Amino acid sequence: MRVRAAVLEQFAQPLVVQELDLAEPRAGEVLVRVAACGVCHTDMYTASGVDPSGYAPTVLGHEGAGVVEAIGEGVRSLAVGDHVVTLFSPQCRECVHCRSPKTNICLAIRDQQGKGLLPDGTTRLSRDGEPIRHFMGTSTFAEYTVMPEIALAKVSPEAPFDRACLFACGLSTGLGAAMYTAKVESGATCVVFGAGMVGLGAVAGCRLQGAERIVCVDLAQERLERARAQGATEVMLGGTDAVDAIIDSTGGFGADYTFEATGLVGVMRQAVESARMGWGLATMCGVAGKGETLDVIPRYLITGRRVCGSSFGGVKGRDQVPQLVQRYLDGDIDVDAFLSHRIALDEVNKGFELMEAQDGIRSVIELGG
Ligand SMILES: NC(=O)c1ccc[n+]([C@@H]2O[C@H](COP(=O)([O-])OP(=O)(O)OC[C@H]3O[C@@H](n4cnc5c(N)ncnc54)[C@H](O)[C@@H]3O)[C@@H](O)[C@H]2O)c1
Ligand SMILES: [Zn+2]
Ligand SMILES: [Zn+2]
Repeated sequence: MRVRAAVLEQFAQPLVVQELDLAEPRAGEVLVRVAACGVCHTDMYTASGVDPSGYAPTVLGHEGAGVVEAIGEGVRSLAVGDHVVTLFSPQCRECVHCRSPKTNICLAIRDQQGKGLLPDGTTRLSRDGEPIRHFMGTSTFAEYTVMPEIALAKVSPEAPFDRACLFACGLSTGLGAAMYTAKVESGATCVVFGAGMVGLGAVAGCRLQGAERIVCVDLAQERLERARAQGATEVMLGGTDAVDAIIDSTGGFGADYTFEATGLVGVMRQAVESARMGWGLATMCGVAGKGETLDVIPRYLITGRRVCGSSFGGVKGRDQVPQLVQRYLDGDIDVDAFLSHRIALDEVNKGFELMEAQDGIRSVIELGG
């Protein structure tokens, strides 16, 4: 079939919306009609050419939600008409990682996905007979996409697509960091550095876990107001004094749980240093620049602080994304607050501009039909 898609032709150049060929789903694959797709930093990062693992041409996009249009041979967990959220972090339910409750990092298709191929080592996307590679296993800046069954979460059909798509990346990453990676306890004191999509999600996750104090730190007053609306009990302007201010306000000890959601290694260090002596856990969500390292004075660790990283919030996508979407439908998570702009596929580059200008939290591409 012919589909309209936003193609990264050349790094550091605007995406070009055009028609491509999309082949039928093969065994274990699913054809999805994309109804909505968020524009995320990772798309922009890859488009910029800074990502060392990036490639072009490719169809970007990974925050998708839509409807199953057709299934390939052997697909059992999904049927035509199901509503789905796309997962750049799949869940095969069979590999050694999927069988462990300790991680959400599925091993099944990592290598092929990283190369821009579907699990059988080929692409469904092409142009004039030339294969076009997939991106993050999703390529959802398109009217339709073909994806592995194990990379689709079946969600409630009651969730509007423009909200459901936010669970495909940033929102689940933040919520999950608090709920599944750190497993924040009720009554805890938490600090979240960064109040973008990920940090605001972490604030909401801490609230859902019953944290007593949730301090959000950001440089932008407007974003701190958003953090309050998500459940932050205190807000603070970031900067070099942030650690001292947190230590002071916690009786000299630091917070039970800290979260970093900025991608800045200096802030990661602050998250470690503002975690409590004895048991404080600092969770890193941000993606740092290539070659950057996190500087930690070992004494912080021997006195009981712990550091961990969180990919996609530790969320096991097929099992837990539907649960998070349900919590939204139950009224526990205010997703509307994150949806700042609705744009058409042709306006995808405007989505990048809005993000660069820190205008709102998320732009969502709405696709026809
Ligand atoms: N771990 C994952 O699976 C995953 C998934 C999605 C995104 N990410 C990463 O998470 C990070 C955050 O993503 P986002 O979409 O929320 O980004 P964002 O740019 O919208 O938000 C970052 C926020 O950090 C704030 N900030 C900057 N400097 C600060 C400082 N010194 N102190 C406190 N706050 C500061 C900014 O004002 C901004 O509000 C990025 O690095 C992104 O790549 C990780
Ligand atoms: Zn797996
Ligand atoms: Zn993303």
